[in-house]
Amino acid sequence: MAKNIEFVIKPTLRCNGACSYCNVAETGSFMGKPVIEATFRSLAEYLGRNPLDEVTILWHGGEPTLMGEFFFQEVLGLQALISDHRVEHVMQSNLTCMTPALADTLCELLKGGGIGTSVDPFSDYRRLKSGEPYPERWYEGFELVRSRGFRVGMVYVVHGESVGLGKSIYHYFKNVGVDSLTLIPLEEPAREFEGARLDAPSWGKFLLEIYRAWEEDRAMLPVEPFVTWAHFAHDKDSPRCGFPEGLHCCEPTVAVAPTGDVYPCVRLLDVGSGAIGNLVVDSLEKILTRPDALWRSQRRDLLRQGECASCRWWDLCAGGCAAACGFGRKTVWCEGYRLFFEAVNE
Ligand SMILES: C[S@@+](CC[C@H](N)C(=O)[O-])C[C@H]1O[C@@H](n2cnc3c(N)ncnc32)[C@H](O)[C@@H]1O
Ligand code: SF4
Ligand code: SF4
Repeated sequence: MAKNIEFVIKPTLRCNGACSYCNVAETGSFMGKPVIEATFRSLAEYLGRNPLDEVTILWHGGEPTLMGEFFFQEVLGLQALISDHRVEHVMQSNLTCMTPALADTLCELLKGGGIGTSVDPFSDYRRLKSGEPYPERWYEGFELVRSRGFRVGMVYVVHGESVGLGKSIYHYFKNVGVDSLTLIPLEEPAREFEGARLDAPSWGKFLLEIYRAWEEDRAMLPVEPFVTWAHFAHDKDSPRCGFPEGLHCCEPTVAVAPTGDVYPCVRLLDVGSGAIGNLVVDSLEKILTRPDALWRSQRRDLLRQGECASCRWWDLCAGGCAAACGFGRKTVWCEGYRLFFEAVNE
């Protein structure tokens, strides 16, 4: 069966940002030439042997733009090993150190495609090491990539101070002109965090606030996870990314660290636990046949028989993301999801 493989490449875990809630510990260095070459060679060989499969490459970090334009020009050269229509490139960036030259190179690589980014207009948790104001630098980068035709999706991290501000947050992002909004609850920060944390009922409350604003606005700005939930409500038989349930990310996911180590989930890479191979020494095929490459399905099966058995919201939630709770447990946001689903379906 044809697969869509999600390749998340973290060429560095370093960052020019100093966000107080950041869940990535700044370790290691930058991806070197042997690793990036090995990554694209494995991918080219794999796609040659699996002619129906397609790949999305998400450039992530740390801050991927710290790699600079020459790194991405090298990637463009390596991309020539693979036929263009089988690979789509997207990026997640804070946009605060975007330059015109880098934006031009990314335009060629991403082909005017999508960049995800994050800013927080209502708290000062997002900061830059330089001491410059994050929102201003972010806005300059945002304007620059918009001028090059990129679609820009906002990833908003919901924390304790967000609760009560759902409507304002929705309209702020709609007015600023992003193409979509994705809501993510605050996961355990990598460093000590003295700000306002989120608890599960508050996550449900916040989802409801922003959902009501979204409904009132006739869903003009696409908001996730609402768009996915609406999709499942109308067409359960047409999964968007390989899974028939709402909150699951793609499987297989191949998360590549600067060293070439591969993990089946981005969060496992961030905490450096559960590597399933290394692209410098292992073929992608070999990595994908390791049992742990399918650990999302294994977790889903376990939860379906255990903690989530008989939950009426399974199709929409499926135990949620494992990031904050680990392999064998349902999401720590369960109570919030239940509150939300019950309120909108009453
Ligand atoms: C780790 S960053 C890396 C990419 C880039 N530096 C950025 O900030 O967009 C990837 C995403 O994780 C989000 N993030 C950071 N810390 C988080 C946390 N503790 N919980 C949930 N999401 C978090 C960021 O806001 C961003 O959307
Ligand atoms: S959230 Fe992104 S911009 Fe902020 S410190 Fe973490 S990696 Fe850097
Ligand atoms: S709402 Fe809770 S019990 Fe239901 S599927 Fe999600 S995590 Fe499991």
